[in-house]
Amino acid sequence: MLGETVYGQPLIYLDSAATSLKPLSVIEAISRFYSHEYGTVHRAIYFFAKGASEKYHAVRGAVQQFLNAKCPEEILFTRGTTDAINLIARSLGDSLFSEGDEILLPETEHHSNIVPWQMLAQRKGVKIVPLPVDDDGVVLVEEYKKRLSSKTKLLSLAHISNVSGALQPLELLVPLAKQAGALVCLDAAQSAPYLPIDVQALDVDFLAFSGHKAFGPTGIGVLYGKLALLEQMPPVQGGGDMIEQVTWERTTYQPSPLKFEAGTPMIAEVIGLGAAIAWIEAKGREAISAYEEQLLAFATEKISRIPKVRIVGQAPKKGAIISVTVEGCHSLDLGTLLDLKGIAIRTGHLCTQPAMKRFGVTTLSRLSFAPYNTYEEIDLFIDALQEAIQTLS
Ligand SMILES: Cc1ncc(COP(=O)(O)O)c(C=O)c1O
Repeated sequence: MLGETVYGQPLIYLDSAATSLKPLSVIEAISRFYSHEYGTVHRAIYFFAKGASEKYHAVRGAVQQFLNAKCPEEILFTRGTTDAINLIARSLGDSLFSEGDEILLPETEHHSNIVPWQMLAQRKGVKIVPLPVDDDGVVLVEEYKKRLSSKTKLLSLAHISNVSGALQPLELLVPLAKQAGALVCLDAAQSAPYLPIDVQALDVDFLAFSGHKAFGPTGIGVLYGKLALLEQMPPVQGGGDMIEQVTWERTTYQPSPLKFEAGTPMIAEVIGLGAAIAWIEAKGREAISAYEEQLLAFATEKISRIPKVRIVGQAPKKGAIISVTVEGCHSLDLGTLLDLKGIAIRTGHLCTQPAMKRFGVTTLSRLSFAPYNTYEEIDLFIDALQEAIQTLS
């Protein structure tokens, strides 16, 4: 992809927060699996099925280490972050929540961390309590404290916001939730690819991320859950693989994680995710985030100097995400003009309509960085942005 051209210009890909490009090692691992190693998992005794099962299980172990979970049974494969949050909302929600319970969500969350909880709220009479954030998108701790009570069952929040890039102060928020007896679910869609994450140190109960934002394939994601909770939670789908014994009278289920993975799983996608994690680990998450911080600082400084441009969210601790609004220019027009120069950015409401309301905008233009971006690309972006603003003004 990095060698592709768009309307005759080299592609400058600044939309990794939406989905990242794939290292060759990931593409090759998937291709090798389909071309030379293909087989189903869990069910068969023959050579290639055994090989595929071993590889599949090895990736679960790799994800366990990646997140520092206690054991591989705490790692479930899902289709992505959205799928993972829906799984928790359905399974935990139906088993543990009752009428009057409250779920706290920062007001800038991605729709995938709002809508599944709203659906639960409708089913069970649970109340959703939005948490105010400051102008940089960081949860206001005093306001959070006011909303925490014995009714709070869950705090669910994005580690890094896909709009403002704000990194939430988990070290403050999580212990307060625990004191109130609430569970914590961390949406790590934007953080897992870059930040070293230790679920035990963070003491979160659940964590979700998507493979495709972490240099892996689409159609695969991870849900981490504390084993004691997963053991209590009922499966949300029934079918092959998740059962222990089936009779006409009654079915018993496998323990976690298989209980939650009904049917033939996304085998090639899991193998691709394994290659993506190996790629991240080889680069080192500290090194990746250090480089991205430099790109972020470089781009922020340059963008801040452009008249009419407002950066939405400048938290002191941020992911490599810059969302801007430009006076007199609609983001779709900006995005279109930049696309003509081969520059891919995200425009629109970024799947966060309540966040748009909070920041007083209807749409935003967002650029986001990954290790394959360069300072030169940022300079080209700045030139193209200035030209587009002149054309549109
Ligand atoms: C913070 C955040 N949460 C959740 C999601 C949903 O991820 P997916 O669409 O891969 O399920 C995204 C994707 O943009 C995101 O940025």
